[in-house]
Amino acid sequence: MMNFHVLTLFPEMIMQGVRTSILGKAMEREYISIEAVNIRDYTTEKHGKVDDYTYGGGAGMLMQAQPVYDAYKAVENKISADSAENGSGGKRAPRVIYVTPQGKPFCQSMAQEFAKEEELILLCGHYEGIDERVLEEIVTDYVSIGDYVLTGGELPAMVMIDAIARLVPGVLHNEESATTESFDNYLLEYPQYSRPEVWKDKRVPEILLSGNHAKIEEWRLEQSIERTKKARPDLYEKWAQENQEYFIKKAKKEARERKKAMKKKLAQKQLAEKNPCNS
Ligand code: ADE
Repeated sequence: MMNFHVLTLFPEMIMQGVRTSILGKAMEREYISIEAVNIRDYTTEKHGKVDDYTYGGGAGMLMQAQPVYDAYKAVENKISADSAENGSGGKRAPRVIYVTPQGKPFCQSMAQEFAKEEELILLCGHYEGIDERVLEEIVTDYVSIGDYVLTGGELPAMVMIDAIARLVPGVLHNEESATTESFDNYLLEYPQYSRPEVWKDKRVPEILLSGNHAKIEEWRLEQSIERTKKARPDLYEKWAQENQEYFIKKAKKEARERKKAMKKKLAQKQLAEKNPCNS
């Protein structure tokens, strides 16, 4: 069971976002748990304030260190108490991910690495960000979900939870689909089709109806390669570098086919020369 703890000013946004579909089912079946901790509940400011102006001036407000730190401590203590109770104590402090446009770009291999953790704390910022001192104190990983700026960290946290949770054993029924999809080997997924065979005059590619699994696999790989080359030349380059043998095999196969075609042509020519009336 993997436990996600989200430190946020908008816990209802997180809980509403994860309650449905596959994540909701995974929570019900106890493959994962997701709790949203309201940072505001931990402020010592009597009016419930959690933000203030930035030193040195500049636009906007900053989340203050105290409520963030105390919310984190509450989660950390709860994790320690739970692990002492179930006999799995003595573990290192959990990883704390701060979702921020200043972080490392999130990717599939990062999701795989995080999926090995038992506990993950995700910290969501708002306004102009969070006081640097508390970040230095608690954050282990700074992660961005892309080169654009959102209004807060809740959507990025949910994106990450989704990508990580689907890698937790049991969350997806078909274990294979968690491993064979896009990005595992740099290639994007091939096109897929379901019934009917013809829709709006478009036929399902003939090869997929052939029952020839080797040929289907070959076609799918070619489709993946073409798609990746077109949409993500950066990924294609990486794949090509690691899969030189694919190009060698392909060149050999093409040479064999050329030879076969030439032989056939020659045989036809010889036949025509023998029986000039048939040509
Ligand atoms: N918070 C705001 N924008 C973000 C982004 N692109 N990635 C992660 N956290 C964010």
